Amino acid sequence: MSVRPILIAPDPRLKLVSEPVTGVDDHIRTLVADMIETMYDAEGIGLAAIQVGVARRILVLDVEQKEERRNPRVFINPIITWSSEATAVMEEGCLSVPEIWDEVERSQAIKAEYLDADGNLQHLEAEGILAVCLQHEMDHLNGVLFVDHLSKLKRSMALKKLAKAKKLKKAS
Ligand code: NI
Repeated sequence: MSVRPILIAPDPRLKLVSEPVTGVDDHIRTLVADMIETMYDAEGIGLAAIQVGVARRILVLDVEQKEERRNPRVFINPIITWSSEATAVMEEGCLSVPEIWDEVERSQAIKAEYLDADGNLQHLEAEGILAVCLQHEMDHLNGVLFVDHLSKLKRSMALKKLAKAKKLKKAS
């Protein structure tokens, strides 16, 4: 297992629509293991494969945020089969959009179907932070970042802030 570098916006690869996984083989299992390690290393609660430069419909999540209670979930080819009309607003961030946090409105609850790390079909009903995180990561599979949900003004402010932070980092 190894930590892979995370792509940072506006890297054009983050806009790609990821391709479905056709078979869960050793190559995919290595990728998944690396994604989990990369997510924990970056102290994130979710990561999509495209964030490490692989355009496949895979994401990993762990909303526990407690090292002693690690519970990584793996979603391969996930689809949302139902989403509640009721929405919730939560502050979101993204490992590919560092240092930016803003409120996004999403469905409060969802149902999803996906393959697990063994290639078995699974169903999940989620609400709260798990539902929000899953929707955020599913967006990545379609080339959408959370800042794309913000108003034009808020998004341009967020991206300016990110560009500035990048420049400072380069200068230091
Ligand atoms: Ni993200």
